[in-house]
Amino acid sequence: MLEFNNITFKYSSDDYNMMEGLSFKVKDGEFISIIGASGCGKSTVFRLINGLEKPQQGKVLVDGAEISIKKNYSAYMPQKDLLYPWRTIEKNICLPMEIQRKSKAEMAQTVEEMLKEVGLWEYRNKYPKDLSGGMKQRASFARTLLTGSEMLLLDEPFSALDSLTKISLQEWLVGEWQKYKKTILFVTHDVEEALFLSKKIFIIKDRPVTYFEEYEVPLSYPRSREDMKRSDIADMKEMLINQLRQKVEL
Ligand SMILES: Nc1ncnc2c1ncn2[C@@H]1O[C@H](COP(=O)(O)OP(=O)(O)O)[C@@H](O)[C@H]1O
Ligand SMILES: [Mg+2]
Repeated sequence: MLEFNNITFKYSSDDYNMMEGLSFKVKDGEFISIIGASGCGKSTVFRLINGLEKPQQGKVLVDGAEISIKKNYSAYMPQKDLLYPWRTIEKNICLPMEIQRKSKAEMAQTVEEMLKEVGLWEYRNKYPKDLSGGMKQRASFARTLLTGSEMLLLDEPFSALDSLTKISLQEWLVGEWQKYKKTILFVTHDVEEALFLSKKIFIIKDRPVTYFEEYEVPLSYPRSREDMKRSDIADMKEMLINQLRQKVEL
C-alpha cells in the first residue's frame, strides 16, 4: 500500500541529504516499527509520507498512486498528545468527524463506541489536564483512528509514559491493530517495544539514509511478555541493540 521509490530528500536549511535513493515497501495491514538513533530521520520519513515535506527526487506512492492526488490516506500521532486543553475528551475525539462534517447523530454514536473501546467513557466530560498520560494517549489514538485513514503513523507515542503504563498500552495497541486492521508504522528507539509490537522492524543505520535494514520478528499474534524471553527473540534484541550502538559511535 505504501512505497518509497528512490527518494532523495534534503531540508532546505541543511547542506547535507537526509535520504538518498531510499526505497521500501509496506504492505496493507502490516505493523512495522522503525528504529534508529535520535536525529537519524525517523520523523522525517513520516513528514514525507503525509506530504508535509516533498522529496527532491523520487516518489511516495500509496496504492500505486502519487500522494499528491490522494487524500486522508494517513493519520499522524506524535509523542506528545495534541489534545486541545479547552475541549472535553469527547469533543477532542469528535474533532476529525467535525472536520468531515458528519451528522450529529452519527458523531454521537461513533464517539460513544470509541470512548468505550478505549476505556474512556466515564471520562468523556473531563478535560485533558484531568487525565493520566496513558489515558491521554488512548484518547489521542482514538482521535487518530476516527480520521478514517488506513495508515497510522505513530511517532514514539509511548516514550513519555512510565514503564508499566507503556507495557499495558503496548498490549492494548496490538489488540486495537488486530481489531481495526489498519497499517501501522511505529517509530520508537525502544528495541523491546519494536520486538513486542511489530511484524517487521526497519533499522535506520546511517545518514544519509539509503536503505532500511529489514528484520522479520519470528512471533505470531497474540504475543505475550513471555515470548520476549525466548532465546531467538533475546538474541535478536541484542543484535538490534548492537546495530544501534554502532550507529551512535560513528
Ligand atoms: N523542519 C526541519 N527543518 C530543517 N531540519 C530539520 C527539520 N526537522 C528535522 N530536521 C533535521 O533533520 C534531522 C532528522 O530529524 P528527525 O527526522 O526529526 O529525526 P528523528 O525523528 O529520527 O529523531 C535532525 O538532525 C534535524 O536537525
Ligand atoms: Mg522524531
